[in-house]
Amino acid sequence: MDPKMLKELNKQIQEETYSSYIYLAMATDLEATGYKGLATWMHVQAREEKIHADIFLNYILERGDRAELLAIEKPPSSWLSPLEIFRTAYAHEQHITGRINHIVKVARDLNDNATLNMLQWFVEEQVEEEANASEAVQQLEIVGDDGRGKLMIDREMGTRVFAVPASAPYYPKPGQATGA
Ligand code: FEO
Repeated sequence: MDPKMLKELNKQIQEETYSSYIYLAMATDLEATGYKGLATWMHVQAREEKIHADIFLNYILERGDRAELLAIEKPPSSWLSPLEIFRTAYAHEQHITGRINHIVKVARDLNDNATLNMLQWFVEEQVEEEANASEAVQQLEIVGDDGRGKLMIDREMGTRVFAVPASAPYYPKPGQATGA
């Protein structure tokens, strides 16, 4: 594929891997502060992000190109509150949406229809990703300092179960995790 396209897709492997890493850091902080349910939710999110990174990797390989793995920066290790965590997650998802839109533009400019096709899944996925984080922010804002309310949200969000996202393109390749 065009080197400019390949560079953007490699960069997206890094972005999605960092997403997985920062959500793992958030899960770790939530676990340490007693929000076991929210931690479970974040662990599931981190696993989904790893799948997003794998999809970009698999796609590059499918096109017969070579992926280059870039450095992953250290995420923060603590936040002020669960609300702060989900606000950060929401802002992060908005950033990722911007990245996907940018890659779509590059693919369009290069008339790379195969890549455009693959990216459609991410365009739709980002709508859901932003909605999930934004909903959590709203709920946490509503309960504010009410401990019982926070416990309820923690319990409810802790029911999230990992599943491979429906119709994920170019996933899995042998050896890539699919189980709970
Ligand atoms: Fe892979 Fe949450 O975007």
